[in-house]
Amino acid sequence: MNIRRISFDLMVYGSVHELEQQDQELMKEAVKARKKAYSPYSKFNVGAAVLLENGEIVTGNNQENASYPSGLCAERVAIFYASAKYPGIAINTIAISATSENFVVDKPAAPCGNCRQSISEYEIKQLRPISIIMSGETGEVLKCNSVADILPLAFNSTFLG
Ligand code: THU
Repeated sequence: MNIRRISFDLMVYGSVHELEQQDQELMKEAVKARKKAYSPYSKFNVGAAVLLENGEIVTGNNQENASYPSGLCAERVAIFYASAKYPGIAINTIAISATSENFVVDKPAAPCGNCRQSISEYEIKQLRPISIIMSGETGEVLKCNSVADILPLAFNSTFLG
């Protein structure tokens, strides 16, 4: 028998105030960014702040469309913008914050599967893990030190031969 168990790590903080100072600062940028979301259909506003290894912070927010699938999540707007503006500069951390115009978001906004896949692409490319911090408006905050923790067994370019 050769059975192995694969597990993943996720840190749960009681609130944003329990995060390290640098992470709190990045989350503040995500909160600022979510206020500029274009979300007339869902009224669910998400902001993402990307900290690069050169110290720059790039932010994004969700951009919706009357043709719903044409819209894009905050995380991808932010990482694509970061890669477009600073190609080849590694991403250290992504902070995500969500709010709604209809209810209080009291649990962390976890990135959708497509966003996890997109973050994974950059993590593999840069050969360095990307930390992700997830937050709602109130309540607990989650942090993982690699997107692989929330996207185990990700499809990647090695499968393409
Ligand atoms: N959304 C994000 O921007 N990020 C997520 O992690 C989940 C969902 C957006 C997409 C859409 O504009 C709205 O939230 C509702 O799904």
